Amino acid sequence: ESGRRGLVIGNWKMNGSRVANLDLLTALKERGPWVAEVAVCVPTPYLADVALSLQGSGIAWGAQDCSRHESGAFTGEVSAPMLAEFGCRYVLVGHSERRQYHRESDNDVADKAKIALAHRLTPVVCVGETLAEREAGATEAVVKRQLSAVIHGVGHCIAQIVVAYEPVWAIGTGRTASPEEAQAVHALLRGQLAAATVHARDMRILYGGSVKADNAAALFAQPDIDGGLVGGAALDAQGFSAICRAA
Ligand code: G3P
Repeated sequence: ESGRRGLVIGNWKMNGSRVANLDLLTALKERGPWVAEVAVCVPTPYLADVALSLQGSGIAWGAQDCSRHESGAFTGEVSAPMLAEFGCRYVLVGHSERRQYHRESDNDVADKAKIALAHRLTPVVCVGETLAEREAGATEAVVKRQLSAVIHGVGHCIAQIVVAYEPVWAIGTGRTASPEEAQAVHALLRGQLAAATVHARDMRILYGGSVKADNAAALFAQPDIDGGLVGGAALDAQGFSAICRAA
């Protein structure tokens, strides 16, 4: 048994408004604290509001992406040091929506993890196969390739990251991986981490993809599933809180 503390991160994606966010966070704060660690990754324009609301609450916050560059002529991008300035603890890197719609490569993702770590942010490195890849029997090869780029990119700092396994076919589809299917991939990822660091047993590997209040407990009961990365269900305080309680 390891002493890993459960972790549930809400990924708001491109949702919210200043008023709605405040309502959601107020309702969430009333429902905490939880045994698990809880965080929300919000759209960057809301970071200042969210920091103000969550300061001292025990709920952490973070962003959904960062630039692989430190600063400079990169119009539209947001840097890791900027996120650090707003008190972010986490930053998602390599979410499948970034890989798909913004053509982020495994190397881009590794660079982002590296720069996040350099600024004391915890990168939540997202990996996962598409439906076509799963059907082709390529799940293992794909997630291993994705994680391997980060392992090589960040070196001994690998122990500082959080990994999130999000099968692309389960994201926003209402179709989750079964607890056993997810556990198999999580065990594989932990094995890969163990080959790179003695701290693999202490690292958290989250599952993401249609996590809801009614399926969270079964997923989190698996030995290598340490919590969740939650999209749609993170926009509702009651549902999200129930997921947090399950971790
Ligand atoms: O990052 C979380 C996400 O991709 C899962 O989304 O809506 O299926 O929980 P959802």
